[in-house]
Amino acid sequence: MKQVRLGKTDMYVKPVGLGCMGLSHASGTPTPKEEAIKILRAAYEMGYNFFDTAECYTGINPDGSISYNEEIVGEAIKPFRDKVILCTKFGVTHKGDHLELDSTPEKIRASIEGSLKKLQTDYIDIYYQHRIDPNVEPEVVAGVMKELIEEGKIKAWGISETTEEYLRRAHAVCPVTVIENRYSMMARWHETIFPACEELGVTYVAFSPMANGALSGAYKSKADFGNGDQDFRPNMPQYSEEGIKKTNEIVKFLEELAKKHNATTAQISLAWMIHKKDFIIPIPGSRKVERLQQNFNAGKIELSKEEIQMIDDKLDTMTFDVFGGH
Ligand SMILES: NC(=O)c1ccc[n+]([C@@H]2O[C@H](COP(=O)([O-])OP(=O)(O)OC[C@H]3O[C@@H](n4cnc5c(N)ncnc54)[C@H](OP(=O)(O)O)[C@@H]3O)[C@@H](O)[C@H]2O)c1
Repeated sequence: MKQVRLGKTDMYVKPVGLGCMGLSHASGTPTPKEEAIKILRAAYEMGYNFFDTAECYTGINPDGSISYNEEIVGEAIKPFRDKVILCTKFGVTHKGDHLELDSTPEKIRASIEGSLKKLQTDYIDIYYQHRIDPNVEPEVVAGVMKELIEEGKIKAWGISETTEEYLRRAHAVCPVTVIENRYSMMARWHETIFPACEELGVTYVAFSPMANGALSGAYKSKADFGNGDQDFRPNMPQYSEEGIKKTNEIVKFLEELAKKHNATTAQISLAWMIHKKDFIIPIPGSRKVERLQQNFNAGKIELSKEEIQMIDDKLDTMTFDVFGGH
């Protein structure tokens, strides 16, 4: 399987990366640690070599203790640390239903020490600013990243949910290797940043690439989740009564193409973005080994230019109300 270069670095990864968040955060009760470690090691055995986590991916275990996603990922990849590209993020704390943003240099310095410890490593391959902090200029954040690279604590850096202006300003101080923005067939508003990625040589890592699972067609109503208040999905607009109707329409449209390629609609949704631009890498997440395998195999599907165009033409006729939309 081909490997995709990250920005202008010497780091290469498989065309599909692994989102580790759901094992601890936003998908219901956290997966028990031992089981989560087995799942992540199985993913490595399948070929995944690009692991995505964050400082703020936490959840509450049934016994009241905290599940730290970084701890799980760190423990899981310990036997093959140097064979994978490890990404984590700073700058966000979950406070009830809102995010507290802090990208001050002092906070970043404290965060990286905590992340290195939890991840049981002495370097992070890609360190992301998780969200833009309106109180800190991009030049300041980029300046800290430059120092961390010089100190050997990180190899490269990225920005999540960035705007083009912020990216350009940050890039001028310390080259940005990747951005990690939301992107799926149902969330295409960031396509306007593609030319800047191309021009600057920045990789676009697509998070929530299956619209939080909606494009798999696996969920027919909110009742399909039902996993308590740690599951964010039932409140997402794509899973409202109206949202599910729209989702069904696009899933139905994809079914024929999926059949032709002996694939699932989830796989077609990933293959579509991989073929659209050679600098896009989706990072789907799942807590189920068979789904991880299915998602990874999307990197082997060949879609023609005409098929991509046919999908784009259909998407152009549709609007979606999807989580994270503006
Ligand atoms: N930078 C950011 O701000 C940000 C924000 C959100 C997410 N992320 C990253 O992006 C990763 C992926 O995003 P995401 O989890 O929000 O969305 P996603 O990958 O689009 O969808 C994941 C959801 O789909 C389900 N699923 C996965 N594979 C499936 C399949 N083959 N068939 C049917 N259902 C499937 C999963 O449930 P099961 O677990 O039950 O399979 C899960 O609910 C995260 O793990 C995280 O690393 C980053």
